[in-house]
Amino acid sequence: MKAKLTANRKFVIGDIDRRIYGSFIEHIGRAVYNGIYEPTHPTADDQGFRTDVLDLVKELNVPIVRYPGGNFVSGYNWEDGTGDKSKRPKRMELAWFSTETNEVGIDEFQEWAKRAGSEVMMAVNLGTRGAEDAKNCVEYCNSDTDTYYAQMRRNNGFEKPFGIKVWCLGNEMDGPWQICQKTAEEYGRLATETAKMMKWADPSIELVACGSSGPGMKTFGDWEMTVLDHTYDHVDYLSLHSYYGNRDGNTANFLARAEEMDRFIKGAAAICDAVKAKKHSQKTINLSFDEWNVWYRSTGAEARDKNWPKAPALIEEMYNFEDALLVGCLLSTLQNNCDRVKMACLAQLVNVIAPIMTENGGKAWAQTTFYPFMYSSVYGRGTTLRPIIESEKYLSKEKWEIPYLSASVIDNDEKGEVVIFASNRSLNEDMELDIDLEGFEGYSLIEHVELYCDDLKAVNDKDFPRVTPTSVEVKDCSAVTLKKHSWNMLRFKKA
Ligand code: AHR
Repeated sequence: MKAKLTANRKFVIGDIDRRIYGSFIEHIGRAVYNGIYEPTHPTADDQGFRTDVLDLVKELNVPIVRYPGGNFVSGYNWEDGTGDKSKRPKRMELAWFSTETNEVGIDEFQEWAKRAGSEVMMAVNLGTRGAEDAKNCVEYCNSDTDTYYAQMRRNNGFEKPFGIKVWCLGNEMDGPWQICQKTAEEYGRLATETAKMMKWADPSIELVACGSSGPGMKTFGDWEMTVLDHTYDHVDYLSLHSYYGNRDGNTANFLARAEEMDRFIKGAAAICDAVKAKKHSQKTINLSFDEWNVWYRSTGAEARDKNWPKAPALIEEMYNFEDALLVGCLLSTLQNNCDRVKMACLAQLVNVIAPIMTENGGKAWAQTTFYPFMYSSVYGRGTTLRPIIESEKYLSKEKWEIPYLSASVIDNDEKGEVVIFASNRSLNEDMELDIDLEGFEGYSLIEHVELYCDDLKAVNDKDFPRVTPTSVEVKDCSAVTLKKHSWNMLRFKKA
C-alpha cells in the first residue's frame, strides 16, 4: 500500500503545551500503596517511595500528575492526608470499597511529584464537600499568609508553599457512580462559588470544570452548556474523559477510535465556543483531557465483597500490542488538537490501567503502552503542523472512513528537528510512505523507531517483555516503510 504525508512549515495547528503528556495517580487499588509508595521495598527511598518506579516515571517524562482522584476525591477529606502519620484516620473508601489508610496525602504526594520531575494537578472534593474545604486546601497548599491553614502546613514541616497551579473542580459529577452526583445546574452553581473562593485565596491558580464523564453520556452537550453557562467567567478549562476498548475483538474498529477522540475534542471545543459567543465573551475556554486510555477488561468492582481490603489489585489491565497501537494513535490525535487541548492525563500511571506495573516487594516494569507515550512525551515537543494525509481508507463499524495512516508532525524549531509519529492501521499490508516536508530544506531522516509485533495480543510480563521498540536502519530518502499494524517515530534533523 502507498500513502503520502505532506506538511508545510507555515501551516501550523498550534504550540504543544507540555502538559498534554500528563498522567494521573488516584487513591485506588495499588496505584499509591505498593505502586509509588512501598516503604519496605528494597528500592524505597527515605520517604518510602519506590525509586525503581520513580525511574520509570522519569523515563516517561511526565510534566503534570493529577491527584488524588478520580472517583476517590468525591468522598475525600484532604486534611486526612496531612501532618503526623501516626494520627491519620483510616477510612471506609466508598468509591472503590477499600480501606484508605491515609499514609500518603498531599504532604507526601507533592514531594513525590518533585522527585518525579512533575507538577501536581490537584482535584478538590465537590461530592461530599464544597467551597470552603476547597478554599482551605488552596490556602494550605499555596498560601504564605499568617493564617490558619498556611500555618497548619508550616506546623507540619513545610515552610514553603507547594505552589500547585492547576486545580480540578471535582470529578465526573454527572456520573451516577459518583459519590454525591449532581445535576448540571447543581454542579454549575457549586463549581462557580467554589471557583470564586479558590481564586480569591490564590488568584494565580487555573481551574478545570467537569465536563461529561464521556462522550457516550446521554447528557453530553447539555451538561457542558449548562455548566459553562454558570462557570464561564470563573474557570479556565473544561475537562474531557474517555476510555476506549476492543470489546468485540475487532482490531480495525478499535484502531479507528482515535477518530472518535478527535470528534469528541472538536465537539467539546465547539460547545465552549458556542457559550463564548452567547456570552459575548473575549475569553476562550480550553480543554483538559484529564482521563484517557484503553480500559475495558475489568470494572473496578473487584473489591466490593472483600471486606474493605487495603490496596487490593483493582483494574490492573495487562496491555497488549494493539492497545499500544491505539495509545500511539490517540497521542497523535491529542497533538493534532493542541490548539485546544492544553492538558491531558493518561489515566493512570502505576498499576491501575497504567503503563507501569509493580509486583509487591518485587519488580517494576513497562507495559506495551509505555513506549508510544514515552517517545511522544520526550520528542513530541514544539509546534504541531497540519498533516495532509493521502492514504487508502477503510470503513469502521460506525461507517466512518478511516485512513490507514494516522500521523502527527511536530516542528521542534529549538532543536532543529521535525518529528513524525505515524501508525499504519492496516492489519495486512505494509505501507510505503512518501514524506514531503515543505519548508524544511536540508533536513534528513536521522532516526526511525518502530513498535511492531506479529502478535497483536502480545503483552509484556515482568520477566518477558514481548513488545519493545526497535531501531530501523535509516536510508537517506524521503520514503519509509511502515510495517503492517505498526507505530513509528521518525526524526528528521537539519544537517
Ligand atoms: O481512572 C479510573 C476512574 O475512571 C476514575 O476514578 C474516574 O474518574 C473514571 O470513571
